[in-house]
Amino acid sequence: MHIEKSKTITERATRVIPGGVNSATRRLSQPYAWEWAEGAQIRDVDGNTYLDYHAAFGPIVLGHNDPTVNAAVAKALTGPDMVGVGITEQEIMLAEKVVQHVPSAEMALAFSSGSEATYMAVRLARGVTGREKLIKFQGTFHGWHDYLLMNIASPADKIGKKDPGSAGQLADAIDNTIIVPFNDLAATEQAILDHPGQIAAIFMEAIPHNIGCVLPRQDFVEGLRRLCDTHGIVLVFDEVITGFRHGLGGYQSVLGVKPDISTFAKAIANGYPCAIIAGKRELMLQFSTAPGGKVFVGGTYNGHPVGSAAALATIAALEDGTIYERTFRLGDRMRAGLAEIAGRLGIEMVSAGFGSVFTPYFMSGKVERYEDLLANDTARDVGFRQGMCERGIFMLPMPIKRNHISAAHTDADIDRTLETAEIVMKTLR
Ligand SMILES: Cc1ncc(COP(=O)(O)O)c(C=O)c1O
Repeated sequence: MHIEKSKTITERATRVIPGGVNSATRRLSQPYAWEWAEGAQIRDVDGNTYLDYHAAFGPIVLGHNDPTVNAAVAKALTGPDMVGVGITEQEIMLAEKVVQHVPSAEMALAFSSGSEATYMAVRLARGVTGREKLIKFQGTFHGWHDYLLMNIASPADKIGKKDPGSAGQLADAIDNTIIVPFNDLAATEQAILDHPGQIAAIFMEAIPHNIGCVLPRQDFVEGLRRLCDTHGIVLVFDEVITGFRHGLGGYQSVLGVKPDISTFAKAIANGYPCAIIAGKRELMLQFSTAPGGKVFVGGTYNGHPVGSAAALATIAALEDGTIYERTFRLGDRMRAGLAEIAGRLGIEMVSAGFGSVFTPYFMSGKVERYEDLLANDTARDVGFRQGMCERGIFMLPMPIKRNHISAAHTDADIDRTLETAEIVMKTLR
């Protein structure tokens, strides 16, 4: 595979952009520069075309450059760009759609990125409870801000300890965030009892997808709801990945458990910047957008016409349910197909996933929390992904990352992926 142009462009980028990329997880061992993306395909500047399962870390749910979404965005460009006071009908329509579809959403506010939404959820929880501490689970990611950037894919020696994600994080922020193993209700309850009257919120990725796909147990989520009710804690479901990808009502509609606050981004707008925080009316009215609200909210680009138009068009495309039906079926085929090939070749694999998301872990045993994934064979995992990329199938070449199927993927794409997976897995034995 030729990558000379990608190399040259990346070298040019590194002269003016630190590391040559605009987000840390975009820098891979092989340089990639892109010139085209459409449907399920992406093409680099050297002319290599890939079947894309990375989906830009998840937003691409309809397919790249979806013509309906792009047309809605183009139409939005003929309306007011930004005035910066008041409201537009489009912003109202977006909030109405969120309230209509998401079981726990009584009101909604729009932002541009998931990190802004989770940051606001932190501030809201602290503002309404007057408490400072947060609980999050080992293995979850909620964005780049100080308060929750901790204990994601931690190395084994950091399990059970604080594992901040960045230099420069406030010591207070690190101290005030308590880490608990996922799916462990007893440990969560103990953390609450150890800090009586101090926990403002429990943050949970509705499915911890930043470590592939670790499904929450039903009794765990119901238990969290009970604990939060008993102790006056705000339960936040971070549905930045799961929202609109796993259903119009997010993964909470699958679980049948209502959080107090939810956050959405990514798949809501098929690749355009749009994020939402939504939840109980009495909590949402504490935001300073409402008279008397004491929890400050700002953001020049909140509710931007481009992101809002893209979100409305994406939601409209998802509303009749046929895309979920098809992508979930393709997801089932992929998970079963990978497991079948691995089994036949004697390769240990847990073929995890939900709906349109799939993650082959190269291990055996149960996967209920991040700690279980320390058994994943990282070399095999990355080797598999690299082998797929070299053969034109783009699966992010990093361990335990999820893959996404979009509405643009076909049965023929799944066939080709499984045929290629078999070839690559044979090289791994
Ligand atoms: C679950 C979750 N929450 C929040 C975020 C932050 O979203 P953004 O990158 O749009 O700031 C991410 C990003 O990957 C995420 O996966």
